[in-house]
Amino acid sequence: MELTPRSGADGSFSLWSSAFGEGFHSAAGAFSEAQQKFVRPSQLERWRPGQELVVVEVAVGTGTNTAALLQAAADLALPLQWWGLEQDRQPLALALASAAFRSQWTGATLSRLEALGRSERLLWGDGRQTVSRLPAALQGGCDLVWLDAFSPRRCPQLWSLEFLAQLAALLKPEGRLITYSSAAAMRAALGAAGLQLASIAASASEQWSSGTVASPRPLGESFPLRSLTAMELDHLLSTAAEPYRDPTGQAGAATLLAERQLRQSQSRAVSGSAWRRRWGVASGFCQQRGLPIQ
Ligand SMILES: C[S@@+](CC[C@H](N)C(=O)[O-])C[C@H]1O[C@@H](n2cnc3c(N)ncnc32)[C@H](O)[C@@H]1O
Repeated sequence: MELTPRSGADGSFSLWSSAFGEGFHSAAGAFSEAQQKFVRPSQLERWRPGQELVVVEVAVGTGTNTAALLQAAADLALPLQWWGLEQDRQPLALALASAAFRSQWTGATLSRLEALGRSERLLWGDGRQTVSRLPAALQGGCDLVWLDAFSPRRCPQLWSLEFLAQLAALLKPEGRLITYSSAAAMRAALGAAGLQLASIAASASEQWSSGTVASPRPLGESFPLRSLTAMELDHLLSTAAEPYRDPTGQAGAATLLAERQLRQSQSRAVSGSAWRRRWGVASGFCQQRGLPIQ
């Protein structure tokens, strides 16, 4: 079976993908990760009750992040205009069929999640193609873009310079793109798309960052957002910041990885391993979903 149910430290429902060789969520667990890396950095208290929240979610998967958003928005009385991109119908179907998953949410949240799963707001297919099927009004019209793809080494298709530029173009001036990843290649690509960067303050179980928030406007330092440290800024000067390039939006993972590796080998920038030695960052720290460096 390609998708195997499993749970993280918080006991919440998650999946392991043998096709991607990676879990859907970090070791902390799906529910905790949704709160810590997506809901909290969104700082929904910035909206007044009744104000519409426009959100695009990339890589909907089990719908854990979606359900966490539905619940948080309902608690604050924020009407939600939600759009999702996902290529595989199975993760959401497996989650909705799981008693463990259902027990995590209120009945109202589950009903809304089921309705979204059936609606035209969930665009099924390769996100690189379906992103262009989002309504034109979403260009520069989104408050939040949540990017929860498998890690760049496992799924470079959703972390390319070109795809990230398309996501950046969706944001309102005060909008935020939020991801669990702290990969330099992604941060550099978002910077190249004109976004300002902030780090999500690390939890106790993580070394230095719980992810990235990017916005057309400067983000400031309001917990859990913080400025990038000297170490993180230096990361962006290393070959780790070499972006994945996918101008046709059609390339496979192996091609994207090999072409990036070739550009890295030709680069005059300091290598990613030299950067790790300089800052005492353990090698191998970057290999798995949910861990910061790619
Ligand atoms: C890490 S999981 C997402 C976890 C999800 N946010 C959740 O709460 O369960 C990554 C998801 O990306 C989807 N995916 C992989 N490649 C994709 C692509 N090219 N376009 C759209 N979705 C893709 C996978 O099917 C998987 O559901």
